[in-house]
Amino acid sequence: MKTYILAIESSCDDTSAAVMENNRILSNVIANQEVHRKYGGVVPELASRAHQQNIIPVVEAALTEANITKEKLSAIGFTRGPGLLGSLLVGTSFAKAFSLGLGIPLIEADHMMGHILAHFILGDDVNKKFPEFPFLCLTISGGHTQIVLVEDHLTMKVIGKTIDDAAGETFDKAAKIMGLPYPGGPVIDALAKEGDPLKFSFPKPQIPGLDFSFSGLKTSILYFIRDELKKNENFIEENKYDLSASIQKTIVDILMARLIKAQEETGIKNIALAGGVSANSAMRDALLKTGKEKGWQAFIPEFRFTTDNAAMIAITAYYKYLKKNFASLDVIPYTRSQF
Ligand code: KG4
Ligand code: ZN
Repeated sequence: MKTYILAIESSCDDTSAAVMENNRILSNVIANQEVHRKYGGVVPELASRAHQQNIIPVVEAALTEANITKEKLSAIGFTRGPGLLGSLLVGTSFAKAFSLGLGIPLIEADHMMGHILAHFILGDDVNKKFPEFPFLCLTISGGHTQIVLVEDHLTMKVIGKTIDDAAGETFDKAAKIMGLPYPGGPVIDALAKEGDPLKFSFPKPQIPGLDFSFSGLKTSILYFIRDELKKNENFIEENKYDLSASIQKTIVDILMARLIKAQEETGIKNIALAGGVSANSAMRDALLKTGKEKGWQAFIPEFRFTTDNAAMIAITAYYKYLKKNFASLDVIPYTRSQF
């Protein structure tokens, strides 16, 4: 018998709903919230209001696109955390009501686990090779930077994480300093394609173990650009391609150095990327190139499942459904990473 899962993702500024038939994606609808653009970052209160407005039309669109009625659903999944509390509450409350109304199980999913399990979604490529266990996953998003040891679909351990800013946040802050729009990661990625990554160099953190630190880099970008602007007020405009390429290279090098260290320490040769920053073209190239040189099996997620989406929550809910790992109706969201 086939399992049909509807899942909701509302942890940050995108409202998304997806329908899955077993591990195969039938629909994945994402409503981006434009309201934050003019503030240069996500405004939590506006995000939760926009989720409230979007959630019913987005769910309806996901069901229509999947061509199924809600009566056919086996379960409903939702992001319990981490994320913005008000935003998470909208998805959580909606999912509870849906579960109660239809008499189907409620399944909670962790957003970071979802990013990783996006690798197991059957999407465009029907011959897709899924990562083999155990594998290491470098999970890089707007709020998190983690190296995760993935033992099976639902057993994961963080073996390295950022002690301050996340990789995506560093892209976004660098873009903000350069006067570029939010979110800055994709903008820097596009500009970097025309630039010289060796034009400017920035310091790399020296911290022990498998942890990351990006706050020093962020500060050095800020001071460097501030000092250059004193000498030439057109510095950013004249150097935006080279600045983007050099900043991007520094972030990718920091991430890759830690990933190589984790690989050497664990001996695990299956290596994956996940999260919004895994959409970055230089990051994807670096993993594939290093993987080839070092004899790793490298896995990069399908592009449309890198940034926040409900398909990754649906696949997480699917694996929990198989284990009858259901949530009770009194479940409440959490804002900080649980693992
Ligand atoms: O996973 P995600 O969609 O949301 C969170 O869970 O945070 O990640 C969003 C982050 C943002 O910081 C955004 O700038 C970054 O992913 N991002 C990128 C690219 N696309 C999205 N960073 C670098 N290059 C990209 N192409
Ligand atoms: Zn995310």
